[in-house]
Amino acid sequence: MKLLTIIGARPQFIKAAAVSRTFSNIKSINEIIVHTGQHFDKNMSEIFFTEMDIPKPSYNLNINSLNHGSMTGRMLEGIEEIVLKEKADMLMVYGDTNSTIAGALAAKKLHVPVAHVEAGLRSFNMRMPEEVNRILTDRISDLLFCPTDKAIENLTKEGFNTFPSKIVKSGDVMQDAALYYSQKSEKHSNIIATHALSNFILCTIHRAENTDDISRLAEIINAINEIEKSIEVVIPLHPRTKKIIADNRLMLNAKIIEPVGYFDMIELLKNCSLVITDSGGLQKEAYFFSKHSVTLRDETEWVELTEGGFNQLAGANSRVIVQSVNKMLKSTSDFSVNLYGGGKASEIIAEEIANYKAD
Ligand code: UD1
Ligand code: UDP
Repeated sequence: MKLLTIIGARPQFIKAAAVSRTFSNIKSINEIIVHTGQHFDKNMSEIFFTEMDIPKPSYNLNINSLNHGSMTGRMLEGIEEIVLKEKADMLMVYGDTNSTIAGALAAKKLHVPVAHVEAGLRSFNMRMPEEVNRILTDRISDLLFCPTDKAIENLTKEGFNTFPSKIVKSGDVMQDAALYYSQKSEKHSNIIATHALSNFILCTIHRAENTDDISRLAEIINAINEIEKSIEVVIPLHPRTKKIIADNRLMLNAKIIEPVGYFDMIELLKNCSLVITDSGGLQKEAYFFSKHSVTLRDETEWVELTEGGFNQLAGANSRVIVQSVNKMLKSTSDFSVNLYGGGKASEIIAEEIANYKAD
């Protein structure tokens, strides 16, 4: 099985770290990694490959910093060439980024089976580029690896059980990564000591719906400035958000640091009092490390977290964000419930791929 794996954005490196490590133990799978180049700063890309022992990509297309159409189009062209050259038996994509849809589309048009890790997630907000990417990717995938029961339910409602694709409940590969690297992070990260952190909230902001709408971003910043008066807020700031804040001369009073590697992120998660985020991945990681979270969005794909009281949606309204933070800082929950498969997702995915037979 010659498997082409397409990755390009930060969360995909973390997911691939777990899955590619499992593939490397299976002789029948020959994985070739293609980096689209979507994320390219050292601390948005290279650091993850080094820290997490991700196999070096055989190709890097260096395609980034473009509008959706040009980015996806150029990736499609570059990936198609590689699929043809490598005569791949299957192509695997993760999540919902432009790299994901470009990879899936390139392979499908060449009749190469597509495997989608993190299939079936829906926000039901078609204004999100991620929602468009994930719906289209699911529809042309042959193997759909679902992280949750809800994801399977979403696909079933859309009629996927009548399509010629296979739905597999794998659990969430991010939990595999969190469990595996949690032991290593303690040894390798000094972030808590370096910044003399004690009682703090961890926050990330990068989602287009928040950064590209200045009124939403201003509301979020107002809330953080208010929260920072009583508890320190640590923000490893995504380059997208950094640029927009600077361009609009917004005043964000918090401990702003550069994006961090995964080991530092785990230590920040383990030691924080609460997570405030608009990230998909971080909502779950908060839960993996027994922390409550407040999500700066109007909806979430990870509904089991909101339903279970682990996460609260606060949208982008200053007052609601501050109230939600105050409420969640006082919350108690039983984090031992198994919502994401307990760290076996990569094994399930690897086994399915190794045994895959096209019809
Ligand atoms: C992308 C994904 C989003 C995912 C996020 C993870 C799409 C449509 N969006 O959003 O789903 O949640 O990655 O972080 O695929 N930039 C840098 N350095 C970098 C990376 C990005 O400066 O290393 C800048 C780019 O030049 C660009 C901006 O950040 O101007 C946005 O990057 P882009 O990859 O388009 O989208 P993200 O917001 O990162
Ligand atoms: N992350 C990281 N360093 C950071 C910010 C995030 O390692 O400075 C990790 C985070 O722990 C999670 C992943 O990046 O594993 C989430 O990526 P991001 O929030 O960029 O994207 P999303 O999950 O929203 O698609």
